[in-house]
Amino acid sequence: MSYKIPFVNYPLHYQRLKGEVDAAITEALSRGDLILRDQLRQFEGNIASFVRVKYAVGVNSGTDALYLSLRAAGVGHGDEVITVAHTFVATVAVIVHCGAKPILVDVGEDFNMNMELVEEAITPRTKAIIPVHLNGRLCDMERLMSMAQKHHLLIIEDAAQALGASFDGREAGSFGLTGCFSFYPAKILGGAGDGGIVVTNDEEIAERICLLRDHGQQRATGEILCFGFNSRLDNLQAAILDVKLRHLSSWIERRRELATFYERGLAELPQVKTPPPPEQGRYFDVYTNYVIRAEERDRLVGYLKECGIEVLISWHIPMHHHKALGLNHFHLPETEKISQEVVSLPLYPEISDEQVEFVIECVRNFHMR
Ligand SMILES: Cc1ncc(COP(=O)(O)O)c(C=O)c1O
Repeated sequence: MSYKIPFVNYPLHYQRLKGEVDAAITEALSRGDLILRDQLRQFEGNIASFVRVKYAVGVNSGTDALYLSLRAAGVGHGDEVITVAHTFVATVAVIVHCGAKPILVDVGEDFNMNMELVEEAITPRTKAIIPVHLNGRLCDMERLMSMAQKHHLLIIEDAAQALGASFDGREAGSFGLTGCFSFYPAKILGGAGDGGIVVTNDEEIAERICLLRDHGQQRATGEILCFGFNSRLDNLQAAILDVKLRHLSSWIERRRELATFYERGLAELPQVKTPPPPEQGRYFDVYTNYVIRAEERDRLVGYLKECGIEVLISWHIPMHHHKALGLNHFHLPETEKISQEVVSLPLYPEISDEQVEFVIECVRNFHMR
């Protein structure tokens, strides 16, 4: 089905950047620089500066950014790792793939980890915590970092949805041992395919991830230092992403402006709960997704579809309710409630003010009929 207002608009996104993106692709192909070459190093340097950390290592996805971080940090059998169920399945999958045990805690009103519950979930076996900065909003990192310090725990940030967001003036990804970003096309900085990056201030961890992403090879000497993986970020992707990175700050401003439009248009509907607005002290949110809660979510989604508006539900089924994953011993009432109520409205830099006004009008019409 083709929508009047799509949830994302990849063709328009490309059209707006065509000159710059095409030039970057042509340059990479003409030079034959395809794997671990200059564009990748340049992009890694630019991401490190953007996040204000020392090192960035490009990998093939946000999932691998998380997985290689856990592996590099020595998380494995017998360890427990605390995270949330209200996230993309990859956050939990990487814990299981390392041989560790995921401990899932509930989230709060802003969809992020409930810090009270994290403290209660810590045991002598807890080795790490993965806070997920969902929808472009950070977790309360002050509380989390002080807990981590008190209990000697590692923090691996799942910042897949939060590039450019900050808390107390500090960027997502710069608090933990590592920060992990995804360049999946629909992300705030999206590639032309899969991609991800790990950022860190720890030189040893950066070196280990460089080894793990490239078969454990030390390229300079040819020595294999460990069994690794093939998880490099391609040069072509890095070249495209580097072009887009130059626009990221203006895209974030536009996203925050659009969030304000939505907030103003929907705030007075008692049946709808909007995310926190942009001006809120300690948090600088980037609205990677604009997620509202609606009492009659499924009927609203049907109505918006009839109006030609594409929306997204993340996630219909709470992760711990997927039988095959063996996580159904967790009791997470807020996560379960959220799964019945959330819906993401279209929000991306290319959407026009008029289109957002139309979405607002339709949501209002549905509730005022
Ligand atoms: C919160 C979260 N964590 C991890 C990932 C995994 O990233 P990728 O799809 O790049 O592997 C995603 C991306 O969908 C995500 O949204």
